[in-house]
Amino acid sequence: YVIGIDLGTSAVKLLLVSKEGEVKVEVSQSYPLQQVRSGYSEQNPADWLEQTIVGLSELVTQFKGSVDEIKGISFSGQMHGLVLLNKSNEVLRPAILWNDTRTTSQCRQLEQTIGKEDLLRITKNPALEGFTLPKLLWVKEHEPEIFEQTNVFMLPKDYLRYGLTGAIHTEYSDAGGTLLLDIEKQTWSSELLSRLGIDETICPPLVSSHAFVGHVTAQVAEATGLSPQTKVFAGGADNACGAIGAGILSEETTLVSIGTSGVVLSYEKDKETRVDGKVHFFHHAEPGAFYKMGVTLSAGYSLSWFKDTFAKEQDIEQLIREAGEREPGANGLLFTPYLTGERSPHADAAIRASFIGMSSTHTQADFVRAVLEGITFSLKDSIELFREMGTKVEKIISIGGGAKSEVWLQLQANIFNARIVKQTSEQGPGMGAAMLAAFGVGWFDSLETCAEAFLSEQSTYEPDPIQVERYAEMYPLYKDVYTQTKQLNQALT
Ligand code: XUL
Repeated sequence: YVIGIDLGTSAVKLLLVSKEGEVKVEVSQSYPLQQVRSGYSEQNPADWLEQTIVGLSELVTQFKGSVDEIKGISFSGQMHGLVLLNKSNEVLRPAILWNDTRTTSQCRQLEQTIGKEDLLRITKNPALEGFTLPKLLWVKEHEPEIFEQTNVFMLPKDYLRYGLTGAIHTEYSDAGGTLLLDIEKQTWSSELLSRLGIDETICPPLVSSHAFVGHVTAQVAEATGLSPQTKVFAGGADNACGAIGAGILSEETTLVSIGTSGVVLSYEKDKETRVDGKVHFFHHAEPGAFYKMGVTLSAGYSLSWFKDTFAKEQDIEQLIREAGEREPGANGLLFTPYLTGERSPHADAAIRASFIGMSSTHTQADFVRAVLEGITFSLKDSIELFREMGTKVEKIISIGGGAKSEVWLQLQANIFNARIVKQTSEQGPGMGAAMLAAFGVGWFDSLETCAEAFLSEQSTYEPDPIQVERYAEMYPLYKDVYTQTKQLNQALT
């Protein structure tokens, strides 16, 4: 057996997976998100570690077998979050997360000091609020005493791995999301670091995603019941792991993942691919591979926000079913999911969400339908960018919350005008993490052979030509909402 740990934004999910790819035990432990000011989003790294230890010991209890059979552990983690440690490896402040948007002025400063062209040349990505470097610059500017004490920074799942093994590393798939990695050279960018006056020693050592980094410590073994012989492998960014867990290991299929954020991702073999900052470009967790990715910041979050705000006592599945019975187009109601700003394609932290076209005849089901359609249109924006770059988006593997409902799967087929595939085990990033451990312990000679053994397709959703046409008519109207509300939003925020 191997364990895949997915450190998400709302919970840590742990999977115990057999050599055949079967999920034997599944455990989830949640922790709070602190949003002390608008645009702020933080979590306490100690909570991640504590809940992971609780989860591991629960997993061992439910397993009932001999822990010597659990050979390896690996990780998937929410990207970009900034964890700062001092010389004694103590956490210096709460982690600033991927969906925190306080760093707009640091992004503009970066564009001035480094220049947009140089940033793209070195990191392949533009300065965006969510990425790690602007957060580091924010701490340097606003909390200089914390910055002074910083000995090393790390990404969220790297802290978890440190907590389990005592070893400090990061790996390429998460390092790309810092905006400090020279993507083509595969090293921390000395050029960027020196031009920004940041000491390179605060960057953690880089390893491959399937690299063996150590065993669980005696203390962790005692607290969880795991064997101290359990091997730990580096792991990857949640989107890279989601892609591995969905078998995105070639250019033929595209991934759509709808979690708190939503992601459209496709595999790239060539590190020289240019995406010109329109979408993200990062290392895959497969050695030598890359991916391009568009991000909708509030995807599943838009739906949970709607439910928590307007339908707290109601069942989400029932709400989605009722929305599925309404007409495409939600009777003329349009929603844009920019509750916390947007990344792709607008890279605009100040934009806010809208419902446009509300009338006295609209029901709750129309609103839910509009929310589902708005999230899906936002993901279509990324798909259209991929298509413009020459990627054929014909077959999409859908994972996450969006793949849990037939209504939403069919909606994706109709809005994206592509075949949507749901897998048998739809575990996404946690499965990808388990696959990195399975590859790491040597059960397979590649991630591809592991994917052949572990993954299978369950059902397919074909686009319905009439609805495709209906949504093709609506899409330009959806896009127009951004342009038409941009100024107003700037004035309001
Ligand atoms: C990707 C991103 C999010 C997080 C969610 O750039 O910010 O998808 O990885 O965990």
